[in-house]
Amino acid sequence: MQVVILSEGSDLDAFSSAYGLTLLYPSTFILLPNVLQYKVSKAISLFQDKIKDKILTKEGINFEKVDKVFVVDSQTVPDVNVPIEIFDHHPNKSLNYKGKNVKLNLYNVGSITTVIVEKIKKAKVNLDKEDATILSLGIYDDTGGFKFSGTTERDLKAFTFLTKSGLDFLKLQQVVSDTFDLEDVEVIKEIIKNAEPLPVEGKKVYISTLYRKYSKDVAWILKYIKPFEPADAYFLVVNQKSKKFIIGRSKDESIDVGKILSQLDGGGHKFAASTTIVGFSYDEIKTFLTFLTAKHQKPLTSFIKTDLPTVEADLSIEEVKSYLGRYRYVVVLQNGRYVGILNDKLINNAIKHGFSNEKAIVFAEELITVSPDVSFIQLLKMFSTYQTDIFPVVEKGYYKGVIYKKEFVSEISGIKEDKPIFLPISKPKTVNYLNRVKKFFPLEIFQTLKEVGEYAEKLGYRAFIIGGVVRDIVLNKENLDVDIIVEGSAVDLIKAYAKDKNFNFYVYPEFMTGVILLPNGLKLDFATARKEEYDSPGSYPKVEKANLFEDLYRRDFTINTLAIEITKSNFGKLIDYFNGLVDIKEKRIRILHSLSFVEDPIRILRALRFAGRLNFKLEKKTENLLIYAVERDLLNFAPTGRINLELNLTFKEENTFEILMLMDRYKVLYKLFAGLSIDQNKEKVLIKLQDSFLLLEKVLGIHFPKNSNYLYVLLGNYPEEITYNLLKKYHFEKEASYLNEFYTTLQSIKNTDSIFDIYKTLKSFNRQFLPALMSLLPEDKFKIVLEMLEKEKKPVLTGEDLIKLGLKPSKIFKDILEDVFVKYLQNSIKTKEEAISYVKKTHLKRLSNQPE
Ligand code: CTP
Repeated sequence: MQVVILSEGSDLDAFSSAYGLTLLYPSTFILLPNVLQYKVSKAISLFQDKIKDKILTKEGINFEKVDKVFVVDSQTVPDVNVPIEIFDHHPNKSLNYKGKNVKLNLYNVGSITTVIVEKIKKAKVNLDKEDATILSLGIYDDTGGFKFSGTTERDLKAFTFLTKSGLDFLKLQQVVSDTFDLEDVEVIKEIIKNAEPLPVEGKKVYISTLYRKYSKDVAWILKYIKPFEPADAYFLVVNQKSKKFIIGRSKDESIDVGKILSQLDGGGHKFAASTTIVGFSYDEIKTFLTFLTAKHQKPLTSFIKTDLPTVEADLSIEEVKSYLGRYRYVVVLQNGRYVGILNDKLINNAIKHGFSNEKAIVFAEELITVSPDVSFIQLLKMFSTYQTDIFPVVEKGYYKGVIYKKEFVSEISGIKEDKPIFLPISKPKTVNYLNRVKKFFPLEIFQTLKEVGEYAEKLGYRAFIIGGVVRDIVLNKENLDVDIIVEGSAVDLIKAYAKDKNFNFYVYPEFMTGVILLPNGLKLDFATARKEEYDSPGSYPKVEKANLFEDLYRRDFTINTLAIEITKSNFGKLIDYFNGLVDIKEKRIRILHSLSFVEDPIRILRALRFAGRLNFKLEKKTENLLIYAVERDLLNFAPTGRINLELNLTFKEENTFEILMLMDRYKVLYKLFAGLSIDQNKEKVLIKLQDSFLLLEKVLGIHFPKNSNYLYVLLGNYPEEITYNLLKKYHFEKEASYLNEFYTTLQSIKNTDSIFDIYKTLKSFNRQFLPALMSLLPEDKFKIVLEMLEKEKKPVLTGEDLIKLGLKPSKIFKDILEDVFVKYLQNSIKTKEEAISYVKKTHLKRLSNQPE
């Protein structure tokens, strides 16, 4: 299959020649752009039946099936990996096709359709009346009805050929007619009203914008009415919903609007070009166009600076600091190849935490890099998407320099102040999550969040739900632990709302946090947005008021940095500063900066817990830093109380087994529990433990504490004293106090073959620890204990049976029932009948022989 790709704003010549190619080469289709000139739209609707089967849209095309692409009336090469053939009638723009397979056919004719018609004629393709008319449109329109100076004899000949093939002049007239209606006149008036000059020295360059809705093609109007005369060049920005369509026209050799708009992802010629742009205001676009028009000769590479110090990857952090000097960044290289960046704060923190002798490569952060031929719009988008002041420029892995945001922004805006007026420090990605939020929460909570957002707005604050609950909304996993962050005062917001609603609440002004208890028993946690500084690894941080971004920046993983605004006017807007959405989609756990595990080693455990829970992978750099942190015993610096909390959370997870296997793989168990590792045997026992939980819960109808059982199984092979000390170390007091009983029971069951003894031992054993006990028993003993428990649940004889036998309830009941039960266990009694006859034979006889 072959495709003719029409560029944005294509005219009749492009359209007719594309149509001609579909006649010339069977199985060729036309891919339409988003914007077409008005006359092309007219032609498509007039010749609908003829054309509809030859047209494709971007969504409807499978590029894997395309083996060739044609470009007509333009020389902009589309981004495809198949041979490209270009037909154009404008001067060669000597574009750089960068190793693409491109065949360029250039002709000096008034319309490119002329060339295609000549080919059709030569190939003796049969044309009907409508084919001839469609082809005539391009020739007639692009030569201005043969009046334009570029018209050639070849155009006239081709047109004559079409006339002979029966072209319909009435329909031709219908499409190419240039009469204006009232709406067109209003549009012209608005363009004139909004027109203003751009401050480009030495040239008359104008810009205007159109806000009104207009379905036709404005470029068409501009061809006939010239509101910017005597301009050298002009731009028109047309507002279309969220997008802006920009048209550029030039009469001046030195103002190449094709080149200028190509920096904004557009296409076209030196004298006529267009583009579509999203996410920037009209004022911003004016600034960009001023810069690009004045400076477009100056290549973007002039922004690439090589002043930053570079260091080799195996230099120590201490030595790197001496290179830092007055700079904020140092570039880390390995034989000239880019490794990453270290910033001053990171270097100082690493030194503060005792890593002066560590190699630079360990903490170097791989910032997003750009290639030297990055376009203006790509840079703009990147600076506004990523929270960074610099982009390292890297070509084929080699470091070429950096582009500074500040310099870039001040140069294009002409503003030399510290704070640029546009491009906020970081523009997060935003997505409308209103419907998702509505579906996710029970109506009551949804309403409460809306009300809280209304109160926040009234107080002039912004409020967001953040962290785990937002992650789980994205993943659609149930979670009602709602954390709310307030840009403002969480305490004042809680007081205002909860008092009005008569809800119970607590506030902790010194921590800037609080809780509202909802009547349905759920609670909402509030905190004022804050930033934190850690003095030493694992220590509790110092807290200071901040904005949402700073609050999110101190968090653990990108998947936990998503926020959904609940402030009334932005309710439901998901805010993503750190590409958390992409990481969730690609199932990745990623830290935000390379000292994350150093500052809070508990995150080592959290990373593995989330990875195990969600079946996510650790991103490569995160994985390296985690391995490093474990190797350096950073877990020793974490408060043991926090390790206790984290282990308890791990044991509560559904995927505890998977998490423990990850903790084993990354040597975390080894470090926490005196060299513990999960060998094949232990792995089997852990699997057995999971089965035992399920089995015993079914048989006995009770729930077992997961943490105790997991701990006993994990540490069950150690001598008792070691296990005891480890349990005490991490504050598992209850588990430590029952340990002796657990070990003794386990040993005595292992050491006896007497069912009676096993029964006796189990009788006094704390049942909470049954799953661990059973998992650690050999298979035969496991079966015996299980059978014992099942039989115990459904005894062969009960007290009621004894009463029916005429016995009065007394202390003896217990002895009789126990005696029967042991016989039942030993299988010498199998049924109730056997049990009753046994009781009659032994106990009743004995009792009747006793004196009253
Ligand atoms: N957090 C962190 N570092 C930690 C602990 C927590 O940065 N050592 C941040 C995370 O951003 C997390 C938020 O604090 O999202 C709330 O922590 P928590 O309630 O423990 O985690 P959740 O993400 O809600 O996880 P879970 O689903 O297990 O409740």
